[in-house]
Amino acid sequence: MKIFISRTLSGIDSLGMEEMPSPGPLGPGQVRIALRSASINYRDLLVLSGALPSVTLPELIPCSDGAGEVVEAAADVSRVKVGDRVALTFNPDWIGGPWEPSRGGAGRGGGIQGVMRQEAVVHQEEAVLIPAHLSFAEGATLPCAAVTAWHALCAAKPLLPGMTVLLQGGGGVSLFALQFAKLFGARVIHVSSSSERCARLKSLGADETVDYRANPQWSTAVRELTGGGVDLAIDIGGADTIERSLASTRMFGRVALVGRLGGRASVVSMGSSYAEMYPVAVGSRQDFEAMNRAIAFHKVRPVIDSRYEFAQLPAALRRLESGRHMGKIVIDFDSLADR
Ligand SMILES: NC(=O)c1ccc[n+]([C@@H]2O[C@H](COP(=O)([O-])OP(=O)(O)OC[C@H]3O[C@@H](n4cnc5c(N)ncnc54)[C@H](OP(=O)(O)O)[C@@H]3O)[C@@H](O)[C@H]2O)c1
Repeated sequence: MKIFISRTLSGIDSLGMEEMPSPGPLGPGQVRIALRSASINYRDLLVLSGALPSVTLPELIPCSDGAGEVVEAAADVSRVKVGDRVALTFNPDWIGGPWEPSRGGAGRGGGIQGVMRQEAVVHQEEAVLIPAHLSFAEGATLPCAAVTAWHALCAAKPLLPGMTVLLQGGGGVSLFALQFAKLFGARVIHVSSSSERCARLKSLGADETVDYRANPQWSTAVRELTGGGVDLAIDIGGADTIERSLASTRMFGRVALVGRLGGRASVVSMGSSYAEMYPVAVGSRQDFEAMNRAIAFHKVRPVIDSRYEFAQLPAALRRLESGRHMGKIVIDFDSLADR
């Protein structure tokens, strides 16, 4: 089978496309998945640049998010069957309940091998059925960004209709958070880097937008729009945004600590928000399954920015790195010669 591999974790250029034997016979509880699509996340860039100390595999098959078809199942497998369309979970050991340190933490495409390969043998517990109305490409967008957005919005405490949520940028996590927040009946204030991107976010459902480049003190605008601050802010910018996320949040509101696109914040001034801050680490399989029920019932379709063939993974990662995308970038495996 064809794979992508990095042996040095020294950036996108360290990736190479190679052949390796397909995985051998199945063990108890295992299934063989013919992968059909992957999607990429900012985290894949961090992993490939060697920026995550928890990633220690000497030879890494990258990318956490993949979807495909079950082509073989061990005799004792009951969760899925041959022919099922599935996505793989990000954290293989996290089935449900709160996160526990014993579960490790580097995730697929980091702590364990990723999805840029034509076939994967995984335990049945790692497979989640894709909602029936979604393609493999759409299903492959879900494991990291969508589950993170779902978890940030509602896994800690419920988001109630009429609550106001602050979202940042047109990336994968924030666009899923926009779609899910609207399902919950919440009001969304979305900040982005240009008036064109703000207009696109409005067309995707944002109630109000603020251009954070034109308004560097954008938290003032958010407070004015809300008469005192949002109920929940999903912070993806880290050092660049956390102070203003806090300043945008009402007294005793909440800030979900999700990303660090602007670097890791080392010191944070709480100001007068008294907001509760909570970290998000993607989510459990049960979060994934609860999210899929909502996606299936409401026929949500992930926003796909662009699609690339398997061999074009480096080009896809460069588009992600540019920040010019809006929504998810997908890798299609169907172009591979032997399919
Ligand atoms: N904790 C977790 O479990 C978890 C899970 C998934 C992702 N993450 C993290 O969440 C962040 C977002 O991930 P993603 O995959 O959604 O990223 P992404 O798709 O690459 O999002 C990039 C977009 O974010 C906006 N942006 C870029 N730099 C920014 C900054 N400094 N401040 C505010 N907005 C900025 C830009 O949109 P505009 O130009 O429209 O503003 C850009 O297009 C990353 O740091 C990622 O590592 C964490």
